[in-house]
Amino acid sequence: MQTIIDKNIQQAAHFLNAGEVVAIPTETVYGLAGNAFDAEAVAKIFEAKSRPFFDPLIVHTHALEEVYKLVTEIHPQLALLAKQFWPGPLTLLLPKKNSIPDIVTAGLPNVGIRIPQQVDTLKLLNELNFPLAAPSANPFGYVSPTSAKHVYQQLQGKIPYILDGGECNVGIESTIVGMHNGLVTVFRIGGLSIESIEVVVGKVMLHIHQGDNPAAPGMLSAHYAPNKKIVIGNIHENIKKYSGAKLGIISFKTIFSEIAPKYCYTLSVNGSLREAAQQLFAAMRNLDNSDIEIILTEIFPDEGLGKAINDRLTRASFKRA
Ligand code: TXA
Ligand code: MG
Repeated sequence: MQTIIDKNIQQAAHFLNAGEVVAIPTETVYGLAGNAFDAEAVAKIFEAKSRPFFDPLIVHTHALEEVYKLVTEIHPQLALLAKQFWPGPLTLLLPKKNSIPDIVTAGLPNVGIRIPQQVDTLKLLNELNFPLAAPSANPFGYVSPTSAKHVYQQLQGKIPYILDGGECNVGIESTIVGMHNGLVTVFRIGGLSIESIEVVVGKVMLHIHQGDNPAAPGMLSAHYAPNKKIVIGNIHENIKKYSGAKLGIISFKTIFSEIAPKYCYTLSVNGSLREAAQQLFAAMRNLDNSDIEIILTEIFPDEGLGKAINDRLTRASFKRA
C-alpha cells in the first residue's frame, strides 16, 4: 500500500469514509484514526499498530454536543473539566452508549473521549459524520510520534494517508481522568497538569499503574519505550559509570560538554517543562535511530508537565532494565 503524506483534509476524509485508517495530527501526539462506529475500521487500527485487543482506544470528536451523543452521562465534576479544558490534552472516561462497538473499549463499560486542539483535525472531525477512534500512531509499546515524519518512518506501507499538521505543540499524550469510587481520579499523567485539574475540581486521586498486569490496559510499566537502554539518574556520575559505552543524553537544561552535541539533547535551556515535554519524544527517537548504545537521562522537577515527563521516562527505562 502506498502511504501519502499531505495536508489535504478532504482526502483524509475520503479514506476515513471508505473505512480506511488515517494518521491525524493532534496537539499531544499523532493518532491512528478510524471510524469509531465501524468495528472493521477499528480492527484495522489494531492490526496496523500490532496492538493487543485488550487495550482500549480513545474516541475523538469536535464538540461537547457530540460527546453527549456517545455517552450516557457526564459526572458533574468531569463536566467541569470538559468545559474548562476541551479542546485540549484531556481524556475523560465516561459510560458509553451502545453505538460505540465493544472493540473500541475492549469490552469495558467506559469509553475514553477527547476533543483535541489541532485545527486541521478539528476541521476533519467536523466534516465527518462519525467520531474517530485513535490510539497514538506508533507500533505498540514504542515512543509516540510527534511529527508526520515519525509516523511515516514506522507505518509506511500499512496505512494509506498521513494528514500532516506539523509538529505537535504539547508533545506528550493526554491526561486521562475518570471517576473511581466516587472520586475524580487520574489514570494517566499527561499533557494537562494535575495542578491545573485541581484548580477546577480540588484534590484528585492518582491511579497510575506501575505493575506488569494492569487493570487499566495500556498502563503497562514498559511502554513509550525506545529500543536502546535508558538509564535515569545523575548524568555526570553515569557518564563516568558507563564510560565504556557510546552514550546519548536527554537532559532538562544542562548541556553536557563531555558528549558530542549531536548526541546531547538538552530539552529546554530556559528550564521550561512545557518546552521539554514538547521535545522529549523526538529526542528519544533520534537517539534510538543513532549509533549510541545507552541513553542517559535524569529525573525532571516533579511539578506540572515534569510529572508526565518522569512517568514516560520511567516506563521507557523499564523495557530493558
Ligand atoms: O493524547 C492522546 O491521548 C493520544 C492522541 C492520539 O489522542 N492518544 C493516545 O492513545 O495516547 P493511546 O491508545 O496510545 O493511549 C490511550 C490510553 C491507553 O493506555 C488505554 O489503555 C487507555 O488510554 N484507555 C483508553 N480507553 C480506556 C478505557 N475505556 N478505560 C481505561 N483506559 C482506557
Ligand atoms: Mg500509545
